Amino acid sequence: MRSRKIERIFTADVPRVFDEHARSYDKLVGVNPGYHDHLRLSVRRMGLPGRGVGLRLLDIGCGTGASTAALLDAAPEAEIIAVDASWEMLAEAKRKIWPARVRFVLGTVEELDQAKITGPFDGILAAYLLRNLGDRNAALRLFRELLKPGAPLAVHDYSVRDSLRSRMIWTAVCWAIIIPLSRIRTGSSDLYRYLWRSVLGFDGVIALSARMRAVGFADVRAQTVPGWQHSIVHTFLGRRPGGDPPPDDDVTPPTGIPIRG
Ligand SMILES: C[S@@+](CC[C@H](N)C(=O)[O-])C[C@H]1O[C@@H](n2cnc3c(N)ncnc32)[C@H](O)[C@@H]1O
Repeated sequence: MRSRKIERIFTADVPRVFDEHARSYDKLVGVNPGYHDHLRLSVRRMGLPGRGVGLRLLDIGCGTGASTAALLDAAPEAEIIAVDASWEMLAEAKRKIWPARVRFVLGTVEELDQAKITGPFDGILAAYLLRNLGDRNAALRLFRELLKPGAPLAVHDYSVRDSLRSRMIWTAVCWAIIIPLSRIRTGSSDLYRYLWRSVLGFDGVIALSARMRAVGFADVRAQTVPGWQHSIVHTFLGRRPGGDPPPDDDVTPPTGIPIRG
């Protein structure tokens, strides 16, 4: 049984704490209705063409591979490089069956070059990652540089700051379900108390959209997902400027979600 000691987690500790929770991660996200569907929805919104034939994609902060599977679902013919800083999360990912075109690499966003991850990529997915980074602007700039002109970035994450209702639902779900469940299943709730707190402190939809524009992304738009996560989980899409214009399908945001400043 893990220690019940209350531990405050800071961004630099996050991969280490994921190491400790890696073995229970899939079970916990598995009871979150919509978790996998929403990842697949965000990837579809990237508009990757032709089942991914000839594309090179990056799943940054791939964890146990849930987001990698979503990329593979939309682009089964693509080469996918999936990177994470947690050795144990990657070990869980590698236990699953993947085509040879999917490669898992240990590395941090901050030192991607040391992991020999270089562009250009035809698309990048960052699912539940950006919130955990100390310098989000630097990370977004790096992602932009790694993309081909015109290629999309999808940031998939919780963003509740702009809505009191979203913050209240998020807090209720965390303290009534997620945190007690993690304590029962793992003996520790430190990661999930950090999750609750980090989401409340993360950019709202307007701020993150503005941040993406400020670091040089074009066609920035935000869309939410169905289910209890409506107006809580969002896809933030942007493109490296240049290249072909984005496809027109599935780009209309639901009412009430601001897309342009
Ligand atoms: C919440 S998990 C998300 C995993 C996966 N993308 C998914 O959708 O299920 C966040 C992942 O980001 C990784 N991570 C956190 N900080 C990182 C960093 N600085 N560099 C690389 N990975 C990092 C963690 O190790 C963890 O596996």
